[in-house]
Amino acid sequence: MRLGVLVSGRGSNLEAVLAADLPGIEPVLVVSNRPAVRALEVAASAGVPIRVLRLGDFGGDASARDAAIGAALEGARIELALLAGYDQLLRPSYFTAFSGRTINIHPSLLPAHGGAGMVGLAVHRSVLAAGDAETGVTIHEVTPDLDAGPILAQSRVPVGAGDDAETLAARVLVEEHGLLVRTLERIGSGASIQRGNSTGPR
Ligand code: GAR
Repeated sequence: MRLGVLVSGRGSNLEAVLAADLPGIEPVLVVSNRPAVRALEVAASAGVPIRVLRLGDFGGDASARDAAIGAALEGARIELALLAGYDQLLRPSYFTAFSGRTINIHPSLLPAHGGAGMVGLAVHRSVLAAGDAETGVTIHEVTPDLDAGPILAQSRVPVGAGDDAETLAARVLVEEHGLLVRTLERIGSGASIQRGNSTGPR
């Protein structure tokens, strides 16, 4: 399965996928909406082609930029697109341009702590502010509604009494890498991942 990965920053989830070298999963393109981010170095050092599509390159027209992202994936014959730390909502033009499947990894138990502004540390701050006893990771289908597509897999992580957003993020990130690799492994092996099934593949 030809995999495209959308990134915006650090790229540790991308790194975990590339390091796993999963049978049936062929990473063929990494697209970033930001230049000079670590994720691009991760892709380059693994020899995966890179595209950078910045909003500024499209005069600030997010719909045009997202159509270009979809077209880049379509042009590379991507079958599965993974949002791995991609920090923008994808507009409907993306879904018009790209005919494949898109999945996202999110660092909470959606639907909790998802939606606008819920990216990276903001998610963990929200979990702590709510006083939740547990959080986790969700992998879900991406639809035009932010963080609201059908859930494919979830994994739970307890919140510790002494946690701050950084310590919680670090523990959740370890779980992210594991759940992502296991889920892609299953997709690559042709196993059907039940849409709407919220028990993570183990
Ligand atoms: C990860 O924790 C990912 O789940 C999160 O951003 C981080 C990116 O890290 N994504 C979101 O919050 C999406 N709403 P990475 O660049 O090291 O993979």
